[in-house]
Amino acid sequence: MQGKVVVIVGATGGIGSVLARKLASTGANLVLTARDSSRLAALATDLPREVLTVECDITDQLQVKTLIEKTVAQFGRIDVLVNAAGAGILKQYNKLEPADLDAMLDLNLKGSFYTCQAAAEVMVSQKSGHICNVVGILGKHSMAMATAYCASKFGMVGFSKCMAEELKRFGIKFTLFYFGGVDTSFWDNVSLKVDRKKMLSAETAANAIFFAMTTEPQAVPMEINIQPDSHLFF
Ligand SMILES: NC(=O)c1ccc[n+]([C@@H]2O[C@H](COP(=O)([O-])OP(=O)(O)OC[C@H]3O[C@@H](n4cnc5c(N)ncnc54)[C@H](OP(=O)(O)O)[C@@H]3O)[C@@H](O)[C@H]2O)c1
Repeated sequence: MQGKVVVIVGATGGIGSVLARKLASTGANLVLTARDSSRLAALATDLPREVLTVECDITDQLQVKTLIEKTVAQFGRIDVLVNAAGAGILKQYNKLEPADLDAMLDLNLKGSFYTCQAAAEVMVSQKSGHICNVVGILGKHSMAMATAYCASKFGMVGFSKCMAEELKRFGIKFTLFYFGGVDTSFWDNVSLKVDRKKMLSAETAANAIFFAMTTEPQAVPMEINIQPDSHLFF
């Protein structure tokens, strides 16, 4: 990854921060983004290499454009975009408020689309690029209490696959990650009773993303599916 430019969206999260630490030691040029600038700064000072941090709310398309402009101004290109920002509202369908649906669709679906769309423009011009979208297993399997979350994540899969079709002729590849439960702060605000000790570690998730971006250039790991043995969807 020496010299590669990697944008990690949701870099301060459980999965994103482990990936950032892993990549920092490889010599990659990192652009780390999330909303909370103090957490971004804390992560950056903890890394062995200087990184670009950009505060950005991906639900705002203008902020996403600025993120990509700052990346290109600093590094001139984008080799990999990792979409690892997201949140979960897990409630029975008849308890969902319009605001819950908006929150899920705005962040998990529309926000990740905005980052893909803006990064793809740069990747098209350089005729190469890799978009790693951390979907989650609820992007392909259903679960009670996950109506709004599944809607957003199934949508993320839908737009990713369509974009992958349109962009393959420009040398741009997509990898979709279907992780089962990962023990991160994602679960701090979820009221559903879950056993975090049985979940995957953020290390396992980050290792899978790292694997996808370091396979031989002609290989396209299209989907990576890893679930904890305690909660398997087939
Ligand atoms: N944990 C799991 O069990 C699991 C399983 C499968 C898939 N996933 C998916 O994996 C991704 C990462 O999850 P995680 O477990 O690492 O979650 P996490 O620890 O809660 O981290 C979420 C990250 O997203 C950022 N974020 C939230 N809202 C944002 C916004 N509007 N704009 C920009 N950044 C925003 C957060 O930073 P700020 O709050 O500072 O913005 C944080 O960096 C999510 O898409 C999640 O759906 C998670």
